[in-house]
Amino acid sequence: MFAATAIDTSNKPAFYNELATHLKALLEGERDSIANAANTSALIYQMVPDLNWAGFYFLASDDELVLGPFQGKPACVRIAVGKGVCGTAIDLGMSMPIKDVHDFPGHIACDADSRSELVVLLRDADGVFGVVDLDSPLPGRFDKDDQAGIEKLAAIYVAASSFED
Ligand code: SME
Repeated sequence: MFAATAIDTSNKPAFYNELATHLKALLEGERDSIANAANTSALIYQMVPDLNWAGFYFLASDDELVLGPFQGKPACVRIAVGKGVCGTAIDLGMSMPIKDVHDFPGHIACDADSRSELVVLLRDADGVFGVVDLDSPLPGRFDKDDQAGIEKLAAIYVAASSFED
């Protein structure tokens, strides 16, 4: 059983280090990439403050992302590479912290409450294969510490999971 004990969030690097330890323990012994994505999004959504969406999009082809496991309101299923924050992150090959989604041309609004967004890449030895996407109702919610922390959690998810067909 997962018990959500409060983690001190006043020191973000320490908070994400502790969350990384929780995630490793949660995924230990399980290689199923969908089950692990489901539990990773649930852990993030439960533990990271001020989120209204947390989840995965996976590349179904070179030019399209498809929705994976997530927590939050139902979301758009397909995002073309180069479109929205998620598709732009894939196109540019970098994480995208967006302070105010209203200022990002082409932002795809799945939840009208979202004001800021953080997208980090999922990559293995073969390259980028998807993203982790976080939305917050607070403008400016995500800083460099959040980006580094979520990138670390994404890497733990990739290392723990099997992506063989
Ligand atoms: N806002 C994203 C779409 C996904 S939802 O936020 C869950 C984007 O612009 O790519």
